[in-house]
Amino acid sequence: MTRTVPISLNVNGRPRTVDVAPNHTLLEVLREDLDLTGTKECCLVGECGACTVIVDGRSVDSCLMLAIEADGADVLTVEGLAADGRLSPLQAAFLDKGGVQCGFCIPGQIMSAHALLAENPHPSRAEVEEGIAGNLCRCGCYEQIFEAILATAEGVER
Ligand code: FES
Ligand code: FES
Repeated sequence: MTRTVPISLNVNGRPRTVDVAPNHTLLEVLREDLDLTGTKECCLVGECGACTVIVDGRSVDSCLMLAIEADGADVLTVEGLAADGRLSPLQAAFLDKGGVQCGFCIPGQIMSAHALLAENPHPSRAEVEEGIAGNLCRCGCYEQIFEAILATAEGVER
């Protein structure tokens, strides 16, 4: 029998306690234990960014983080962005600019962009490109994704 360890974390503003196997990643716990499947599972080796979430304010590849490392942390996933059933400005901009094709990479792209804009509300085009450099899009929507992030930054109060 696999030994489990109880961890407590705050996910999208909600306290959660989960019994996790020591070798389970944060990605596995989010998707399989907490049913938060917006965070995508793809390469599992930190190459694609599909599994990006924000942990204590920093974007991380949740496939590379053990769940027990997130004990006590604040975790934000794509499910936590919409409020009262309304998309966040960043989510709405992705739709508006046509940055969503198959959509598989989009939760990760949006979480990286969210972290970027939280740290730097008015990034340059080069800073946007650098901010989501770890997120791959096999549909090649990069231009629309850059536009969506820059449009969101334009809408932020200066
Ligand atoms: S699934 Fe985590 S970086 Fe690709
Ligand atoms: S929209 Fe399809 S992988 Fe990015």
